[in-house]
Amino acid sequence: MNSVPEVEDEIRQIRQDVVECRKCELWKTRKNPVVGNGALDAKIMLIGEAPGYHEDVQGIPFVGKAGKLLDELLQSIDMEREEVYIANILKCRPPNNRNPFDSEIKACTPYLDKQIMAIKPMVIGTLGNFASSYVLEKFGFKAETIGKIHGKIFHIKNLFFESKIIPLYHPAAAVYNPNMKTVLTGDFKTIGSYVSKKT
Ligand code: URA
Ligand code: SF4
Repeated sequence: MNSVPEVEDEIRQIRQDVVECRKCELWKTRKNPVVGNGALDAKIMLIGEAPGYHEDVQGIPFVGKAGKLLDELLQSIDMEREEVYIANILKCRPPNNRNPFDSEIKACTPYLDKQIMAIKPMVIGTLGNFASSYVLEKFGFKAETIGKIHGKIFHIKNLFFESKIIPLYHPAAAVYNPNMKTVLTGDFKTIGSYVSKKT
């Protein structure tokens, strides 16, 4: 594990690079980039898709309705948002919350890759299809649709770190869908089971 000051430097550098980034068109329409937030020694990293309206205004991930549900889900496994690290595939909001373009994902994900390597979480929860496909494929897995692979555990072990990827439904999809929320809550329990809390 890296020391926290080292991680702090890396995360600070990523933030600065994102603030200055012009690698795709989205910087032109964003209000604020949403780089990521959370504990630098987090055991859990959650990866969403892209900032929405409220995230763009505040510059913080998951502060709208989906974020409220995310807080509930974290509480259900006895975790606070401050204990996890949260980032997105895209750091700038796509106009009208449209889906990310492949070209945008390609341009932006080097930042996410660096965040993963800096934080080296024990568990990576990927929220929704875009985050799940990107992260699974990056680590050499075949990404099937989230309906098929949610809650499954994909082990990563390489020279740099060891972790588990657990794909999850996106909380925004579960806000108005009680059945999906039940499934998502169950999948969060799987995440919780891999991180033992200090007492
Ligand atoms: N949805 C996401 O995928 N990310 C956010 O930060 C907010 C909503
Ligand atoms: Fe750069 Fe990513 Fe923003 Fe595009 S979305 S401008 S790649 S930070």
